Amino acid sequence: MSRSGSRAVRVHVPATSANLGPGFDTLGLALAYGDELIAVTREETGATVRITGVGEGAVPTDASNLVVRSAAHVYARLGRAMPGIDIEAHNRIPHGRGMGSSGSAIVAGVMIAAGLLESDPEFPIALSEDDLLGYATELEGHPDNVAPALFGGLTIAWTAPTGPRFKRLLVHRGVSPLVLVPEFEVSTAHARSLQPAHVPYEDAVFNLSRSSLLIAALTQSPELLFEATEDRLHQNYRAEAMPQTRDLVAVLRDAGHAAVVSGAGPSIMVLAGDPAERLAAADLAAAHGGDWTPLILAVDILGATVEAVPADATLSSPGTE
Ligand code: HSE
Repeated sequence: MSRSGSRAVRVHVPATSANLGPGFDTLGLALAYGDELIAVTREETGATVRITGVGEGAVPTDASNLVVRSAAHVYARLGRAMPGIDIEAHNRIPHGRGMGSSGSAIVAGVMIAAGLLESDPEFPIALSEDDLLGYATELEGHPDNVAPALFGGLTIAWTAPTGPRFKRLLVHRGVSPLVLVPEFEVSTAHARSLQPAHVPYEDAVFNLSRSSLLIAALTQSPELLFEATEDRLHQNYRAEAMPQTRDLVAVLRDAGHAAVVSGAGPSIMVLAGDPAERLAAADLAAAHGGDWTPLILAVDILGATVEAVPADATLSSPGTE
């Protein structure tokens, strides 16, 4: 296919862990582990997606792909015609495990659209941070995964009358994430269906205190992480969908580790107060049994990035982990 006149962008989008214990639908953390994509425009309308890594052979490779639909959503909201695009993606974020894969796919599509719109030779448009968060949240339904995927670091996300909003915070350098990823998946929709319509007043107050404390623990006082990661609003209600996760979280917390369900699960996030603690937590998980892959990760501080590249650019790490 001729690429003369084509424009291309390269996008990197991080994995995320939402909730972080008490911050249900509000707090999220970006992780230095992500997907990389290149999108190249073409003369013909339509879209193709070539995937290596996670999702290869399993997720759609045509216009029904979530990345393509998300880019198309941005163009539609702006009343602009989306050019035909060929996307090449190398995915690392596990699907259905609570590491924000659908939010990251949505953010990837939004960033592809943002990059192509900004480099449009006839009518360039620069999208604001609020635009990016708004479009991504329209697709995801809640902003707590897409905010850290877009902006990096620790994010507090909320919904104002004007739309979703966020505040990004820098995480204390001692905070050291470990994610334990199981083989099995849990759908977010199923996990959400287990939530009650109402919660006891004292549980709401309990989570208010812990999520407030968690901001201090993550930004200033990692020694408070254990107490600050207690939750009464979602994890117990969802435990029947992931008993193995419930059991390992209990084992880790009994040993003093600040373990929580990552997002809607079933992965577990340990927010260690120092890097060495992560090895002890990973050893404990291995001794507990089950098939948990430990990912020792840094906090991502950049969030999603997009850059214009030559139309014949290639992924920096195709087919590798
Ligand atoms: N806050 C969301 C939930 C994260 O726990 O359902 C997963 O999308």
